[in-house]
Amino acid sequence: MLSKSQARLFFLGGTILFSLIFLWLTLDTIRQTPARTHMAAMDEQVLLGRKLWDENNCMGCHTILGEGAYYAPELTNVLDRKHPEWIRAFIRNPQAFYPGRRKMVAYDFTDEEIDGLIAWFRWVQGIDTNGFPKDPPLREWIKDSGQASVKE
Ligand code: HEC
Repeated sequence: MLSKSQARLFFLGGTILFSLIFLWLTLDTIRQTPARTHMAAMDEQVLLGRKLWDENNCMGCHTILGEGAYYAPELTNVLDRKHPEWIRAFIRNPQAFYPGRRKMVAYDFTDEEIDGLIAWFRWVQGIDTNGFPKDPPLREWIKDSGQASVKE
């Protein structure tokens, strides 16, 4: 059993130690954020994509950096899976790609807007996320679930 003064010391020591650790981690996060998010690369095109992403409720179906809904694929690493030209063609006419499957909204974006969305995906992909997502093997999943194969 701890005596009263030992318990007080234990409490104070623990509080001070973990407050210092918390402070150090906070400062370390603030110090690392600009480089890890490569904020400087967020230009006009990326901002346009970001705006379209927010205004068109893409997160109502997709996740990005794990945030959003689970109806449609996680898009943090979409440029690892798909060529920008594929994404461009897909966004212009999503229904043509996966007939008979879950549907994506056919947006009426201009070429400039689609370029903005692709720049936004590229920017997101450049964030150092400590390896998140461990890219779920989408292709394998689609194969296993017996759905139609992915058309590149
Ligand atoms: C109503 C739900 C819905 C919304 C809203 C939506 N999507 Fe999708 N999206 C889908 C579905 C479903 C798929 C996958 C089709 C499939 O696999 O059958 C998809 C696929 C994609 C893909 C291809 C991903 C891959 O790995 O093949 C991209 C890129 C994409 N969406 C971008 C967007 C963008 C950008 C927006 C917002 C402007 C958006 N989506 C809004 C449902 C949606």
